[in-house]
Amino acid sequence: MQIKDGTFMVTGGISLIGSHVTEQLLENGAKTVILFDNYSLGSTEMIEHILKEERVRLVRGDITRVGELYNALEGVDGIFAIAGFLTLPFSANPELGITVNALGHVNVLEAARYRGVSKVIFSSSVATYGDPEPGSIDETRPFRFNTMTPPGVLYGSTKIIGEQLGKLYSERYGVQSVSLRYATVYGERQHYRGVNALYIIDTYDKLMAGERPRIPGDGSEVHDYIHVADVARANLMAMESNVTAEAFNVATGTATNLNRLYEIIAEIVGTDLEPEYGDREGAVRVTTSSQLDFSIEKIGRMIGWTPQVSIEEGIARLIKWRQGQA
Ligand SMILES: NC(=O)c1ccc[n+]([C@@H]2O[C@H](COP(=O)([O-])OP(=O)(O)OC[C@H]3O[C@@H](n4cnc5c(N)ncnc54)[C@H](O)[C@@H]3O)[C@@H](O)[C@H]2O)c1
Repeated sequence: MQIKDGTFMVTGGISLIGSHVTEQLLENGAKTVILFDNYSLGSTEMIEHILKEERVRLVRGDITRVGELYNALEGVDGIFAIAGFLTLPFSANPELGITVNALGHVNVLEAARYRGVSKVIFSSSVATYGDPEPGSIDETRPFRFNTMTPPGVLYGSTKIIGEQLGKLYSERYGVQSVSLRYATVYGERQHYRGVNALYIIDTYDKLMAGERPRIPGDGSEVHDYIHVADVARANLMAMESNVTAEAFNVATGTATNLNRLYEIIAEIVGTDLEPEYGDREGAVRVTTSSQLDFSIEKIGRMIGWTPQVSIEEGIARLIKWRQGQA
């Protein structure tokens, strides 16, 4: 499907990822972009520049209500199904988290089916691997959950459900569906809802307040930080491709530990404050491994996507945005 002149819905359209997808849709000549969001987690404050654009329509609606989706989907070619509860809101409200992430996605697919929408791109997560064994992690890796805490397991389970629903609707009803398994997403308009990216913004805020940031454990915990512009580009490329009923890792393939992340932030901010080490009481942790190796071979081969923003550049962009807000 072509982006140019197409009509798209972005559920969770005012979110971190949804707003970047929208920007790229507009840059690539989409005719209309419908932002569908119930404002439960996001707010329109940071996307005023997007809302000024005539091709953008904001619909306040809820994916747990199929009728609202159906009404808003008239004439839509493709849906970016991004609305969802990340681990922190999920652990605060598991009942709603399950409803939105799992049942909400059935509604999206069902409304798409009856409205004749061609394709749905689902925001999944590498949480579908749970706490994987060391070694290269490709899309065939099973969900390893026995070493994890409940919030991560529950969140990952809902993403597995979402992916399988997409496959089912693709095979049974011809609604094309691709699931994108994001690693830790960060970037401009960063929020405080993702457990792993939280560390970046927390560290920055502490340093700006002249306080010593706290690094959990000994700082050897690693994550694969993927910039939101790369994530948005993966969404558009998945929509444009002819691929259906597949899941892909959307990661850099490079792990960065918390000590290195601190160095990058401290260098940009220009501080010589030393961090403290130790866990924060009551903090939600998902995985704490010191090795992580996501394979991005499949998405490169089938969709042609590779990441473009390095961690150093991405963090610099995030901090520049944050400074512009002050
Ligand atoms: N940020 C990450 O690191 C990351 C990693 C992996 C996967 N994901 C997935 O990507 C998606 C978006 O992530 P994000 O960081 O942009 O999230 P976010 O928290 O910024 O946005 C979620 C959006 O969904 C909206 N929403 C929630 N419930 C809704 C409902 N019932 N109906 C309509 N809208 C609703 C919220 O108001 C919010 O704007 C989520 O599905 C998340 O699980 C994110």
